[in-house]
Amino acid sequence: MGSASPHQNFTVTIIGGGIGGLTLAVGLLRRNVPVRIFEASSAFTEIGLGLSIGPAAHRAMPLIDPKIREIYDSLVTTHADSPGYESYAQTWFEIVWASGVHEGDLLMDLKALPSGQTTLRRADFLEALVKLIPLGIVQFGKRLAKLEETADGVNLQFDDGTTATADVVVGCDGIKSKVKESMLPEESKDKQPQYSGMYGYRTVFDMDKMVQAVGDQRARVSTMYIGDGAYGISYPIMRAQKVNVGLYILNDTWDSDTWVRPVKKEDMLRDASKMGRYWKSLVEHMPDPSQWAIFEHPALSTYTRSRVAILGDAAHASTPHQGAGAGQAIEDALVLAELFGDPKVRSISDVKAAFKAYDDVRRPRSQRVVTSSKEGAYLLCLRLEGVGNDADALKKAFQKRLRWLWDLDVQAHVDEAKHKMAEYMHHTASLQAL
Ligand SMILES: Cc1cc2nc3c(=O)[nH]c(=O)nc-3n(C[C@H](O)[C@H](O)[C@H](O)COP(=O)(O)OP(=O)(O)OC[C@H]3O[C@@H](n4cnc5c(N)ncnc54)[C@H](O)[C@@H]3O)c2cc1C
Ligand SMILES: *[C@@H]1O[C@H](CO)[C@@H](O)[C@H](O)[C@H]1NC(C)=O
Repeated sequence: MGSASPHQNFTVTIIGGGIGGLTLAVGLLRRNVPVRIFEASSAFTEIGLGLSIGPAAHRAMPLIDPKIREIYDSLVTTHADSPGYESYAQTWFEIVWASGVHEGDLLMDLKALPSGQTTLRRADFLEALVKLIPLGIVQFGKRLAKLEETADGVNLQFDDGTTATADVVVGCDGIKSKVKESMLPEESKDKQPQYSGMYGYRTVFDMDKMVQAVGDQRARVSTMYIGDGAYGISYPIMRAQKVNVGLYILNDTWDSDTWVRPVKKEDMLRDASKMGRYWKSLVEHMPDPSQWAIFEHPALSTYTRSRVAILGDAAHASTPHQGAGAGQAIEDALVLAELFGDPKVRSISDVKAAFKAYDDVRRPRSQRVVTSSKEGAYLLCLRLEGVGNDADALKKAFQKRLRWLWDLDVQAHVDEAKHKMAEYMHHTASLQAL
C-alpha cells in the first residue's frame, strides 16, 4: 500500500485473484485505496496456454498502472519476433480457407492497428502481475460460499467454514461466481453459465514441430482457419518459441457434467477431417485430445447491488472467439480503479454511486462483447447470416466487425463513468438535503 494515508474509510475486498482481480488490485493500490484479496486456490494459478489482447485493453493497461503495460510489453510476442516476418508487425491474423474450393488459400491479411497481434502465455502474465501485489493482502485457500449484506457491511462465508466481514466487495471470481449468485439470487436461478454450442481442442506446440506440421509461414503468422461448421486458430507465443493452437467445432450437444473431457483420437480426427490440409497435419501431432466445452453467461440486469459489484468473467463471461474476455476484465478494472481513486469517493454512499456508474458504462459494452463474440464464431464457421462463405462479404465483415471493440477511446470511457458518478453523488446529496 502507498505511504500517503487513504482518503476513504473503507477497504475493498476482492474475491478471486485471476487477471481481473489482480489488475483491479494493482490499480486500486496505485491509487492508495486499501485492498485485500481472498483467492480459492492455494496459490495464484493460470494455465500455460496463450492469451491474445486487443488494442483497447492494451491502451487501458498503462492507465491502470504503467507497470502493467511494462510487464505486458516485456512478455508479449509479436510477428516481429520471427526474423523475416517484420512486415507482419501490424497483422492481427491471416485468414485462411480450411474448406471449399479455396481450401489452403489466403482470404486476407487482417490488420489490428497500431500494435498488430500481441499475445502472451497466460501463466507468465499472471505470475508477473502477482509480483506487483504485496502478499500480505492475500489470503489463499479461501473459497467463498456466499455473502450477505448486513446493516453496516457484508458477511462472507467460506467453504472451509470460516467467515469474514467486508466494507465493500468486488466479485472477480470467474464464470461460476458465488458473489454473483449471492448478489442476484433470484436472477441467478435461471441465469447460469450455459453451453454455447461449441467445444474446442487446445494445445501448445514447440515452434519446430509447428513448422514441421504446417510450414514456416503458417507457423509464424497468427492464423484463423475458416471452415464449414468449425474454425481453427494459431498464434505464436513466448517470443515465437511456441505456438498456441485451437480447433473449435459447432455442436449443439454437450452431454457431460464436466467442462473438459478426454476423448478418443478418432473423435478429434473426425472433427478435423473437413478442415483441410493444415489441420489434417496438425491433429496428427496433437497429444491426447480433450474437448473443452465453451460456456458463456446470459446477460445480467446489473453488475452491482448496494456495496457489492462483479467484474470480469463473473459479470460477463464470453466465448473466446474474438479474444476479448480478459481484455474486458482489464477495461472493467481500469474504470473501477479510476472511480475509486477519485478523492470524492470517501464513504459507502460514494461507493454505491461509483458502482452504479461502473455498471452504466461497462455493462452495455461487455455484454455486446458476449453477443458479438458468438456471432464471430458463426462468421468463422462460415455460417453467419448474410455472409456465409461469400469471400467479399467475409472480407468486409472481418474488416468492420471489431472496429467498435478496438477503437474505444479508453479515456473518454473513464470520463463518462466519472461524470455519471458525480451525478449519482449529487442526486444522493440533494435527497439527503431534503
Ligand atoms: C478457451 C478460451 C480461450 C480464451 N482466450 C482468450 C484470449 O485469447 N483473449 C482474451 O482476452 N480472453 C480470452 N479468454 C477469456 C479469458 O480467459 C477470461 O475472460 C479471463 O480469464 C477472465 O478473468 P477473470 O479474472 O474475470 O476470471 P478467472 O480467470 O476465471 O479468475 C477467477 C479467479 O477467482 C478464483 N475463484 C473462483 N471462485 C472463487 C470463489 N468462490 N472464492 C474465491 N475465489 C474464487 C479462481 O481461482 C480464479 O483465480 C479465453 C477463454 C477461454 C475459455
Ligand atoms: C456432436 O457430439 C456428439 C458427442 O457428444 C456426437 O455424437 C455427434 O455426432 C456430434 N454431432 C455432430 C453434428 O458432429
